[in-house]
Amino acid sequence: MKAPKISLRKLDESVHDRDALILFCFKGEVGKFIPVVKKAVGKDIAEKLTDFAAARGFKGGAGQSLYYPTKDKHITLLVGLGSRKSFKIDIVRRATAHSLKLIEKLRISKAVAVLAGRYTSAIKESDLVGAAAEGYLLGAYEFDKYKTKLKDKFSASDVELAIERVNKGAELALTEAEHVAEIVNSTRDMQNDNADDVNPETFVNQAEIAAKEDKLKMTVIGGDQLKTKGLRLIHAVGRASKWKPQLIMLEYYGDKSRKNNLTALVGKGVTFDTGGVNLKPADSMIEQMHLDMSGAATVLHAIKLASRLKLKTNILAVMPVAENAIGGNAIKPGSVVKAYNGKSVEIANTDAEGRLILADALAYVADKYKPTRIIDIATLTGSIIAALSFFYAGLITNNEKISKGLLDASEVTSEKIWRMPLDNDFRQTMRGTKSDLTNISKGGGDSTKAAAFLENFTAKIPWAHLDIAGTSMLPKPSGYQPQGGTGFGVRLLVEYLRKNPRF
Ligand code: BES
Ligand code: ZN
Ligand code: ZN
Repeated sequence: MKAPKISLRKLDESVHDRDALILFCFKGEVGKFIPVVKKAVGKDIAEKLTDFAAARGFKGGAGQSLYYPTKDKHITLLVGLGSRKSFKIDIVRRATAHSLKLIEKLRISKAVAVLAGRYTSAIKESDLVGAAAEGYLLGAYEFDKYKTKLKDKFSASDVELAIERVNKGAELALTEAEHVAEIVNSTRDMQNDNADDVNPETFVNQAEIAAKEDKLKMTVIGGDQLKTKGLRLIHAVGRASKWKPQLIMLEYYGDKSRKNNLTALVGKGVTFDTGGVNLKPADSMIEQMHLDMSGAATVLHAIKLASRLKLKTNILAVMPVAENAIGGNAIKPGSVVKAYNGKSVEIANTDAEGRLILADALAYVADKYKPTRIIDIATLTGSIIAALSFFYAGLITNNEKISKGLLDASEVTSEKIWRMPLDNDFRQTMRGTKSDLTNISKGGGDSTKAAAFLENFTAKIPWAHLDIAGTSMLPKPSGYQPQGGTGFGVRLLVEYLRKNPRF
């Protein structure tokens, strides 16, 4: 993948000195808008552009675009933003990502994108810069590690964002967006790679690199040590794999004066989910199950990003990592295993393995670190895709404050989440017959039931669960999101912690 270099420049008459000039326009405002950007396009073009747009039926609808050939190779590109009334910042991410695809189709290398703050008075120019840079850098992502014919793909080299005030605020927004995009794209790379290369043991190496680079404290419990410390569920799930299961923890202290105010982010790290002895059938997305470590990849990268952005908060990233393999040593359905907190669990179905490794991880950190809140994130159930498709992640929580904070953060980052219910009817279904708890219950509502199961391991600490089975693995690209791993949750968790650093 080659992303363009993004830089800032002042909006003045000289901005049409690149191969392409990109202009964004609200629906039905072409005539009103052109005079605003006269500075950028020059008087001659400004006058012709309105007529040209009208003749070609360009109104500025979301997803609409129009090329206006000017001189030689130079083109002006109009990109629609949809109606001003329904504008939100994510439209900028989408429109910029879209404009990158359009200029690359024309093999244009250097472009200027005009982001005058006057587009909408409600949005700060620095926020426009941040969103535009994210759109270009996240939209440029492609997992091409295994493609041998890269030469056919044309990549733009430079995009300049033309704004009215190039100041510290705008520069900071650009730098932050670059950090965000680098980390989200690296999450996507980790998600998309082969399960043999991103396995429980190489995961430890990745965490080690993060610990060094971003000055985090690391603790690892691996293999038989899991058994001796009572983390038998993680061990049971990972025991048939050629790679030893691991529980990896990273700590970041951006607010050293409040070391006891700690947020635990717990991510499911199943590096491949065969289903175990309850082997996944062919139509169950089994070929996508290298992405079943997306939760762990997300928390690993969220703590890295928080550290790069120097957030004034304290984070414990927790990654139970195991391969749910099949083989002679695999745990058998119906086996009862004791969790870290002493509760006995019947593994009635070995394919409901995510909740098992999370259960031990939750109970362990609740006991050893006493965090003030816990958020877990996991590709936990196919049933969340049945309910919300690939568009929304499920949010299930017993805490109103965390719920509100996450929903607010989701508005900012546009990683959409939808709250699902959790009550005693669901809790009751997870009680075992021969054990305290069972890991499955028939009759639908599996996403909420899985969360009800996890709640038993949170030691009454305020907790929220995000089911990202759909949003972290897309069947086809959408906007600035690629096919496959999306890095869903990294920006969401970091935005949530930025706005709610303590609890
Ligand atoms: N990793 C899967 C969930 C999943 C399915 C994620 C499809 C993404 C796409 C999880 O471990 C699983 O297998 N869940 C089962 C639970 C069932 C056995 C109760 C499921 O959802 O089918
Ligand atoms: Zn499974
Ligand atoms: Zn799984």
